[in-house]
Amino acid sequence: MVHIDDNYPTPTSAAQKATLKHLVKPYPSSDLADTNHSKISQGILDTNLHLGYLGRHLLQGLPARYVSQDASQPWLLFWSLQSLSLLKVELDEGNKKRVGDTVISMQDTSAGGFGGGPGQAAHLLPTYAAVCALAIAGSPSHFAQIDRAALYRFYLSLKEPDGSFRVSANGEVDVRGVYCLLSTAKLTGIITPELVKGTKEWIQACQTYEGGFASGALGVGHGSQSAPLGEAHGGYTFCALAAWVLLEAEFPSSPSDPKLNLGSLRRWLVNMQGSEDELYGFRGRTNKLVDGCYSWWVGGCFPLLDTLDRLDGRVQADAELEEQIWNPEGLKEYILFAAQHSAGGLRDKPPKTSDLYHTLYCLAGLSAAEYSIQSFSSTPQSSALNATDPLFNLTRTHAEGMIEYFRSGERKEFR
Ligand code: FPP
Ligand code: ZN
Repeated sequence: MVHIDDNYPTPTSAAQKATLKHLVKPYPSSDLADTNHSKISQGILDTNLHLGYLGRHLLQGLPARYVSQDASQPWLLFWSLQSLSLLKVELDEGNKKRVGDTVISMQDTSAGGFGGGPGQAAHLLPTYAAVCALAIAGSPSHFAQIDRAALYRFYLSLKEPDGSFRVSANGEVDVRGVYCLLSTAKLTGIITPELVKGTKEWIQACQTYEGGFASGALGVGHGSQSAPLGEAHGGYTFCALAAWVLLEAEFPSSPSDPKLNLGSLRRWLVNMQGSEDELYGFRGRTNKLVDGCYSWWVGGCFPLLDTLDRLDGRVQADAELEEQIWNPEGLKEYILFAAQHSAGGLRDKPPKTSDLYHTLYCLAGLSAAEYSIQSFSSTPQSSALNATDPLFNLTRTHAEGMIEYFRSGERKEFR
């Protein structure tokens, strides 16, 4: 593909040109000549290399540059633990207890919910990461320490009249928070009609003219015309769609309920997948660069759409899917050749280094691609990775374990 900038070079077109130079297969051909990295040069997932990287981070502590993420401590745990789970590794009991106790120490005992570290104020985003980390590594005694009554009060306190939620007391409204709230309300069994009244309408209003979703919307429920706030983006689109599917699964809609424009959503999602020159990676928004983390934020939307089709009865529960609308084989190329780092972990793109966030979302995207290929194949395929539940980005047994714990009769009432 010839690089096109209409003879009007911009910082974005320069960045795109530089990116294409780095996205060569195998990457980078010169330093992969040594056999240590032969798996990456052949486009094979180097499981042991990434397990070493995750083990070092989780057990020996994080490199100093992570100090800037002091308010994201539950996230650092979740990214590491879910990456291990995708790689089919479970922690031993001693480390599970360490993780569970650490996460519980981040519960905001006055407001309910979890903060970004011990003593930090509750916020929806670290609450999602904390609850998911507990679903992966926590024991029933840790689950029992989640103060569900306080969590429910905290969630209701964040609710706005238009059905949206603030991310924290006096914080901003955005669809990431709505996803974090709904997914954890489902996991902990506190999802109620009272909690979610008006939320579908608000999510619907976040869909933009492009088909993807913006960070939020203005005006819903105030008598004025609703309008999405800003540009369609893969991260927000995942959150909006997963939140929508969670609501649809819990409270099936009636014909008068709001509807998403699924046609324009599908078209937008497939158009976020890059060209052959971009090794078929995903970008997060129109005219921006491909990046490994969108393997999940955009790639993870396809299994969500399949789930929605089944829930809404467009596809029978046990029917085979008919049409693959995206290119999961292509996405594997981006992740395996460009996103794997030869020192372990996965990344945005070469020549960047790896980090825990990209390690998880590249592995989750790879899992979505492999299971998507499998669902269209007549012969069974094996995968080095576990499947991840697209609603939570948790291995199904972990999500089900927590849901089942809170569903079973004897748990303390939350209201
Ligand atoms: C743009 O960054 C990024 C955003 C506008 C938000 C991204 C949102 C997510 C990734 C979803 C997070 C989900 C949860 C559950 C917390 P950029 O301008 O650096 O990147 P870009 O050029 O790729 O858009
Ligand atoms: Zn990224």
